[in-house]
Amino acid sequence: MAQQITKAVIPAAGLGTRLLPSTKSQPKEMLPVGRKPILQYVVEELQAAALRQILIITGRRKRVIEDHFDSDPQLVLALEQAGNETVLADLAYLEGKSRFFYTRQSTPKGLGHAISLGADFVDSDDFVVALGDSLIAAEDPAAPLQAMMDAHRQLRATAIVAVEKVPSEEAFRYGIVNIDGEEPPPGEPVAMTDIVEKPPTGTAPTTLAVAARYVFSPAIFEALNRTLPDKRGEIQLTDAIRLLIHKGEPVYAWLLSPDQRRYDVGNFESYFRTFIDFALADERYGYLVRKYIKAKAYEL
Ligand code: G1P
Repeated sequence: MAQQITKAVIPAAGLGTRLLPSTKSQPKEMLPVGRKPILQYVVEELQAAALRQILIITGRRKRVIEDHFDSDPQLVLALEQAGNETVLADLAYLEGKSRFFYTRQSTPKGLGHAISLGADFVDSDDFVVALGDSLIAAEDPAAPLQAMMDAHRQLRATAIVAVEKVPSEEAFRYGIVNIDGEEPPPGEPVAMTDIVEKPPTGTAPTTLAVAARYVFSPAIFEALNRTLPDKRGEIQLTDAIRLLIHKGEPVYAWLLSPDQRRYDVGNFESYFRTFIDFALADERYGYLVRKYIKAKAYEL
């Protein structure tokens, strides 16, 4: 039986062009969702899934990411002296639950290329990939990854990819997977027969969209090396997964259940939706936001 997975790679090198000017000098992964930057939710999800070594693929204008996940003794001391327990508790994410590693993708050569930069870090271990601009909202946000890692071990899979159902008119925005048969049951790995990145409208084989979380064996790196750039000159992770499937490797889709929802900050529409839902659900300030929105709704 394979060893427990302890390594995760978070690609966070994207340019965030769709979110300019917010992302002119700030990484999109650091945009706040409620009271925390989205990347902190991703890191906390990985920590809850016992992933102790986290490699973040950054790039130009992304240095604040390293500062955010570094402890700040001076700040902690000042808060302690001020007796500010609430804010101190909010900084608990800094308490050494994982080790962070960083590398930079200097040229925008795509998600697959960014992941390939993790090869030395991953070495010969199985590992998780969690996209840095997407979070999983659920009662237990780490549950999908934990179940996917278990399935990966039991099935000796090469890849397990989280998927979600999307409206058919949205399929062109995602990696879309194909499987034998109809809709898979949530929470159960189903063999993937094909995968295609952002299929042109009307050509998607299903409405099962890749949902920002993956578990891989290191065989993905060899597939990434063999993957040709797409029309935009980018190496797509989806295309490398496709090579694995066509080689006959065991690759599975894992459908999120309806109460496990993926949110992202990829564009303003999805960012606003994400922010509003998290602000509404905030345990400290949510009641104020709900009150405000109820009053505001009359004006709309
Ligand atoms: C990436 C992946 C795509 C996936 C999506 C959401 O696309 O390439 O396959 O469906 O994330 O997880 P992006 O949103 O970076 O264009």
